[in-house]
Amino acid sequence: VREPDLAGRHVVVSAGGTREPLDPVRFLGNRSSGKQGYALARTAAARGARVTLVAANTGLPDPAGVDVVRVGTAVQLREAVLKAAADADAVVMAAAVADFRPETYAAGKIKKKDGKEPDPIVLVRNPDILAELSADRARADQVVVGFAAETDDVLANGRAKLLRKGCDLLVVNEVGERRTFGSEENEAVVLGADGSETPVAHGPKEALAEIVWDLVTQRLG
Ligand code: PMT
Repeated sequence: VREPDLAGRHVVVSAGGTREPLDPVRFLGNRSSGKQGYALARTAAARGARVTLVAANTGLPDPAGVDVVRVGTAVQLREAVLKAAADADAVVMAAAVADFRPETYAAGKIKKKDGKEPDPIVLVRNPDILAELSADRARADQVVVGFAAETDDVLANGRAKLLRKGCDLLVVNEVGERRTFGSEENEAVVLGADGSETPVAHGPKEALAEIVWDLVTQRLG
């Protein structure tokens, strides 16, 4: 049993994948199951933290002793995370957030038109929640952690993303149709804004979560 080294702390974790609706029936989404974010929430609660879990479209049961806020879209996720982050010691963005959403929402189901090509889907940019959290810290001493889901040039893309987003730690993991998404296991390199690199060997998502909290705890001082 670990010592409760997060006792007295409030941490916010986002999990799952946002869905950006096209019409009442369809959405643009991604393959996140929420398992990595839930592992972060469970392990933080076990270490004594008060945990707010902002969950986007996950089919997982609420972890015991965790406040769960359920959201659908990236805009809703932003609102819930910013609200919870106001008094948080640390924020960990494990959710897979859509970078773009359809420009228009059709109030009725989009229909096939006989003999006609379908209308193109026009996308507009979603807010970058992690960049915003990092730039406008709710508290000067708040620790902000992002994840980077990459399919190629994993470490180089991760390093560039850490600089772009401005977070303190970035957990770089490789993803694919059957890799990491939905799996019970993960492997990663955790990059620090201080230049540190912490490799995490393939293992349960809880094991990666514990290492993330170790690194967060060091930075909380
Ligand atoms: O849910 P699982 O099935 O367990 O899978 C886990 C996971 C692969 C989803 C998780 O480990 C992971 O990598 N999550 C981040 C996915 C992602 O959106 O990565 P990204 O490289 O596109 O985004 C980088 C970071 O910016 C992320 O922390 C993301 O939450 C954040 N972001 C992205 C876009 C946006 N508009 N706003 C954001 O805050």
